[in-house]
Amino acid sequence: MELEKLLKLDVSNIDEKQAGAVVRDLREELNRHNYYYYIKDNPIISDADYDKLMRLLESIEEKFPQLVTADSPTQRIGAPLEGGFNTLEHGEKMLSLQDAFGHEELKAFLDRVYKDLELEESQVEFVCELKIDGSAVSLVYQDGSFVRGATRGDGVTGEDITSNLKTIKAIPLRLMDGVQIPSRLEVRGEVYLGKDEFLQINKRREEEGLAVFANPRNAAAGSLRQIDPAQTAKRRLSIFIYGAVSNQELGASNHYQMLEYLKKCGLRLNPHVKKVTGYEKIKKYCDRWEEERKSLPYETDGIVIKVNDFSYQQKLGQTSRNPRWALAYKFPPEQEVTRVVDIKVSVGRTGALTPVAKLEPVTVAGSTVSNATLHNEDEVNRKDVRIGDWVIIHKAGDVIPEIVKVITERRDGTEKQFKMPERCPVCGSEVIRAEGEAVSRCISLACPAVQFEAIVHFASKGAMDIDGLGPAIVKKLLDRGLIADPADIYYLDYDDIFSLENFKQKSTHNLLEAINKSKSQPLSRLLFGLGIRFVGQHVAEILADEFGDLDNLMQADFSQLESIDEIGPRIADSIVSFFKQKQNLEVIEKLRKAGLNFSAEKKKVEERKEFAKKTFVLTGKLENFTRSQAADLIEKFGGKVTSAVSKSTDVVIAGNDAGSKLDDAKKLGIKVIDEKQFKDMIG
Ligand code: IVH
Repeated sequence: MELEKLLKLDVSNIDEKQAGAVVRDLREELNRHNYYYYIKDNPIISDADYDKLMRLLESIEEKFPQLVTADSPTQRIGAPLEGGFNTLEHGEKMLSLQDAFGHEELKAFLDRVYKDLELEESQVEFVCELKIDGSAVSLVYQDGSFVRGATRGDGVTGEDITSNLKTIKAIPLRLMDGVQIPSRLEVRGEVYLGKDEFLQINKRREEEGLAVFANPRNAAAGSLRQIDPAQTAKRRLSIFIYGAVSNQELGASNHYQMLEYLKKCGLRLNPHVKKVTGYEKIKKYCDRWEEERKSLPYETDGIVIKVNDFSYQQKLGQTSRNPRWALAYKFPPEQEVTRVVDIKVSVGRTGALTPVAKLEPVTVAGSTVSNATLHNEDEVNRKDVRIGDWVIIHKAGDVIPEIVKVITERRDGTEKQFKMPERCPVCGSEVIRAEGEAVSRCISLACPAVQFEAIVHFASKGAMDIDGLGPAIVKKLLDRGLIADPADIYYLDYDDIFSLENFKQKSTHNLLEAINKSKSQPLSRLLFGLGIRFVGQHVAEILADEFGDLDNLMQADFSQLESIDEIGPRIADSIVSFFKQKQNLEVIEKLRKAGLNFSAEKKKVEERKEFAKKTFVLTGKLENFTRSQAADLIEKFGGKVTSAVSKSTDVVIAGNDAGSKLDDAKKLGIKVIDEKQFKDMIG
């Protein structure tokens, strides 16, 4: 049976004969996906679909226990073993965790624990940890020395990847002297790849024409299972240890004490471990990290909740696959698998034609995704996205959804290639792709799509912030011929707006007032609103600060612009040509006549010695400031903030979980300060 059919199967009334056939198909399908996931590190279906297949098989096997076989995928944890590595037997079975999706399943788990222990909520302490999205490993220390390490494998036996693990700097080859260590210590942890490192690896792979990894987890697993350890060493893998085997010998009576002991041994532990009691507090920890995980330099896919007390753990015991004292509370996945139903082209305010993949709707990171931008023609070709393709979509929080990669393994030959249209899909004008440019553009300034986008952008929150003038109203005004460019907004009168559908007296007044109010917006917003190519909010602020007045800017020549810090030739060129175009000058004159503010308030700089003329880089998470608050303070005192560490960086401010920028700073011998020192500097 095909995958799609299996996923939709209803087995509530199935008889034994039918069940036998379905079980066979399900096992075959699950084995196939185990192979893609664990051996090729290249899954071709979503985790959710995999779970669905597994749950289906479990439910049939529960109903017809006579159908259970020893080699059924339900009887095994993790990966099938494949040649290439020697195998190693784990000192104790490496279990996996029971998953929970949502608060209700979390509550059900806790209630079951309280019931089984015959204790009240307040009597059972839990340890909450981040669930690191990497690859599970087991490490053996003999008399304090690292001697062997293995993948989880099928839970009982793993692959011997000792040589590869030895390349990971975060794994100590000797444990700390002076700590009482049993002659044999077996610890468990998660090897992972930082977000930055993952992006770099994929960039390199793309340049080399290799298939990209779908996510840091696959990349970490792939890196660990390189036959040549020199290849593993090239990837900057790291590890967090989260447990030990035979923990009774370690002088600890609970999980938290054991973690402290492992830390003393010199092993690397995640710093966000917390002891928590009661549903409300556990839920709070989960909710907090669902948000804050975005700023961590590594991927997490949930929270692991563990009963702290070893005696309680023992009492609760385990099933063949999962301990009954622990739970994986899963975050909504940031990746999903879906299908490209079409590739359409949209026209932006600069006339740029952007191919957009229309997707079969899927929920990613908690919201429904049905479009993903493909940026330009080259991107479509590079990713080789075709209409009808199955693709992996990534969306993190508020970030725009992206197609990570095409699952070419699921092609059936009916997919259609995309071709950029030669005529604008909105106005039919010619489409030009200039030499050396990736973007194709509609060259008509009168293109309704260009006008529409330009006006919507002008009125938007980040620009002139005209409350109530959103895309739908702009469209109505354009359709009625009441406006054709952004300046026309200021010449609308009461009757123009009142005549629009759904506008009453009060709403008309409100919109007129919002339009009027926007006339006094600062120059930087006006500059951003004009939609000059490459002039984003930040550059607009620099220009407003530098020139103080729109007329001064309009007179600036290329070299004057280029001499400004952060303004390169591309931006300078774009500004000069913008102010050369007759049409743009007409719009500006109309804006002037309407009484818009053309001058900037100078930002007050209170120069301080420690900051003045120095370049700062912020990395990691600060507890007391947002990034932009910290940057504003630095700028207020005369300093500059840049995003990347280079030789010209003077100071790196490192918050929690600082990533590769901190490593770069150390390598370049740049001064690094922590949040407390930064606070002291500000005073
Ligand atoms: S405890 C018996 N703690 O999640 C309990 N696991 O199926 C063993 N993982 O493959 C797991 N972070 O590799 C535990 N803080 C953490 C973890 C964690 C990630 C992985 C682990 C396992 C999977 C759960």
